[in-house]
Amino acid sequence: AHATRVTATDVNPRALHITALTLALSGAPAADVREGSLYEPVADDETYDLIVSNPPFVISPGARLTYRDGGMGGDDLCRSLVQQTGERLNEGGFAHFLANWQHVEGEEWTDRLRSWVPHGCDAWIVQREVQDVTQYAELWLRDAGDHRGDPADYQARYDAWLDEFEARKVKAVGFGWITLRRTGAADPSVVAEEWPHPVEQPLGETVRAHFDRVDYLRSHDDAALLEAHFTLSGEVVQEQVGLPGAEDPEHVVLRQNRGMRRATRVDTVGAGFAGVCDGTMSAGRILDAIAQLVGEDPVALRDRTPAQIRLLVEQGFLEPA
Ligand SMILES: C[S@@+](CC[C@H](N)C(=O)[O-])C[C@H]1O[C@@H](n2cnc3c(N)ncnc32)[C@H](O)[C@@H]1O
Repeated sequence: AHATRVTATDVNPRALHITALTLALSGAPAADVREGSLYEPVADDETYDLIVSNPPFVISPGARLTYRDGGMGGDDLCRSLVQQTGERLNEGGFAHFLANWQHVEGEEWTDRLRSWVPHGCDAWIVQREVQDVTQYAELWLRDAGDHRGDPADYQARYDAWLDEFEARKVKAVGFGWITLRRTGAADPSVVAEEWPHPVEQPLGETVRAHFDRVDYLRSHDDAALLEAHFTLSGEVVQEQVGLPGAEDPEHVVLRQNRGMRRATRVDTVGAGFAGVCDGTMSAGRILDAIAQLVGEDPVALRDRTPAQIRLLVEQGFLEPA
């Protein structure tokens, strides 16, 4: 309902029919429904402000079930979707996808996902879950009800699934979210991270805030960060773990209670810094004061802390005042 014009594509005509029916029943404006694979039914010069997809992301041998099997081999359907999205987005436009990706022997999953991000786009990739290949095959065999059929058929399908993974050197499968934003920036921001813990849904505003912070960090080098003023984000708490009565905790964690509900480990300087951030003093002035308190050279502290400040801003613990 927040869009003025919607184009919807699917290879299954029944899915398109049900899409039109759902919109009509919801009283939403009709969509332009088009039959075909991914962007095939969309002309080259048609571009969008927002692209969303819950694609058939299941990595499986063959293409037995249209509703879930990409049928392109491995995680190629998700890769193609992400790669083709760059030229379909308007400047400043966003794309959100659910996806699965292979964890291949000898390769970092983050490198694999980074290589998918189209030119001219920032990306935020969150891995929410990882399953090993046996769990994965069992999950989707159950999803299709195969466990209720002939045990020999189940076994044959299970073996074929694992053989396919073995041939591709796949050890596990990641599940997660991929968000792209087209900016045309010369130095795109690609954040690929693992966060399997509960988050505060819906995350729309959190996603937008992530990319606002990316813009802020891109335009502020370390010297500018030290000149800037920050406030601690709402509902951030500090947790300390250590022996009861000990003078220094073994570790200190900052935890958000909103949005991604992230937790991050900080050192004493980071915790002290975050605690003082109420927007009144510049980051550099706060560090000078901390240096005096802990007896550290202020120049050295100004030198080594911007990386930590950058991370706290990137993750939403600190907001530019
Ligand atoms: C996981 S379902 C999502 C259904 C629905 N959009 C939703 O989010 O509830 C995946 C959909 O992708 C469709 N599909 C499968 N292969 C496709 C392809 N190559 N291009 C476009 N759609 C495809 C399936 O027919 C199915 O409707």
